Amino acid sequence: MTDPTLRVLIPSEKIQARIKELGEQISRDYPSGRLHMIAILKGAAFFLADLTRAMKRDVFIDFMGISSYGKGKSSSGEVKVTKDLDISLEGAEVLIVEDIVDSGITLNYLMHVLDQRRPHSIRIAALLDKPERRLRPVHVSYVGFQIPDQFVVGYGLDFDEKYRNLDDICVLEEAKAAAS
Ligand code: IMP
Ligand code: MG
Repeated sequence: MTDPTLRVLIPSEKIQARIKELGEQISRDYPSGRLHMIAILKGAAFFLADLTRAMKRDVFIDFMGISSYGKGKSSSGEVKVTKDLDISLEGAEVLIVEDIVDSGITLNYLMHVLDQRRPHSIRIAALLDKPERRLRPVHVSYVGFQIPDQFVVGYGLDFDEKYRNLDDICVLEEAKAAAS
């Protein structure tokens, strides 16, 4: 696909290689116990699919819908659950799987919500982290890549629901995107 508004930041091969490493590390860190991997819809569905297949142990998967963003590029600051889990978390090792941590508003909220369901432990795995943008504290145990403060799309990440199915993670060039 040639789109002049897109510049590749992390090519597909690098994403896949890093996910393999993360999968192996997480498998080592959770040698036993009931591991629930919860992807935040919709962006993290791609990461969850590849990460779980890079793992060397059984996992449960589930999905949660959270909305904290409007249609644009910045957070509304409001968070709500739009789809809840199917499986109980009581006594489970929970790993939240997220595409990107930006302000931290979504994950900070979600950690509090899920903590009340009495899991044995909760950690976060995020493919991307933009630490410069943080407004609320979030501890991310597994990070794929730290990236600068740029708006990215692809590999699950969207702009107005577009670009999720790109293999690479790309920067959406501001000026050109605004003009289109
Ligand atoms: P936070 O609550 O500000 O940390 O926002 C996290 C959510 O915002 C992510 O799950 C994404 O859906 C979205 N988001 C943040 N930064 C980007 C980006 O650069 N591209 C696409 N979506 C983003
Ligand atoms: Mg998201």
